Amino acid sequence: MKAVEILQAEHSAALTMLDHLERAADAAARGASVPQDLFGDILEFIQVFVDRCHHGKEETELFPRLRMSRDAEIADRLEAEHQQGRALVRTFADAVGSYTPGDRASGARLQRAVDAYGDFLCEHIANETAELLPAMELGLGSQDHELVDAFERIELERVGAGTHERLHKMLDGMGMRVDRAAAALVPG
Ligand SMILES: [Fe+2]
Repeated sequence: MKAVEILQAEHSAALTMLDHLERAADAAARGASVPQDLFGDILEFIQVFVDRCHHGKEETELFPRLRMSRDAEIADRLEAEHQQGRALVRTFADAVGSYTPGDRASGARLQRAVDAYGDFLCEHIANETAELLPAMELGLGSQDHELVDAFERIELERVGAGTHERLHKMLDGMGMRVDRAAAALVPG
């Protein structure tokens, strides 16, 4: 896999998880008793897979290389977006902590936090697709092997192979878990 393809695959995994999260938050806001650990697991996925691993690859390996080329401005802007995302994840984490399954008010608070993070993430990924990935192909093509090796190293050192695999399995099973939670909607 090329470095660009690794990032694309991670973007699409993040968007799939966001889709599950939005459905779960919608059910919670309607008063369904969504297990709190479902949100806790998605929070872990966002903190570890999306932020520590994926953003770590971009910030540690990619952005410094872009800064040495003519694309420094893109790197600065996207890194600032990562900081914005971290603040939104903290708000989401707070909302998960105070969520009471079956309680519409705390479910609605959770949904607002998820909406804000979801809007951010979709726009951020669209920006990276439009600017970062083409800049990589144009400017960093000759460093592709080095980048792929460095990405693998970050995955192993910062996340660990076992955790990475566990988070992928969690993603695979999340659709069913959300289906079950949403089906248990409280009438009225
Ligand atoms: Fe990214």
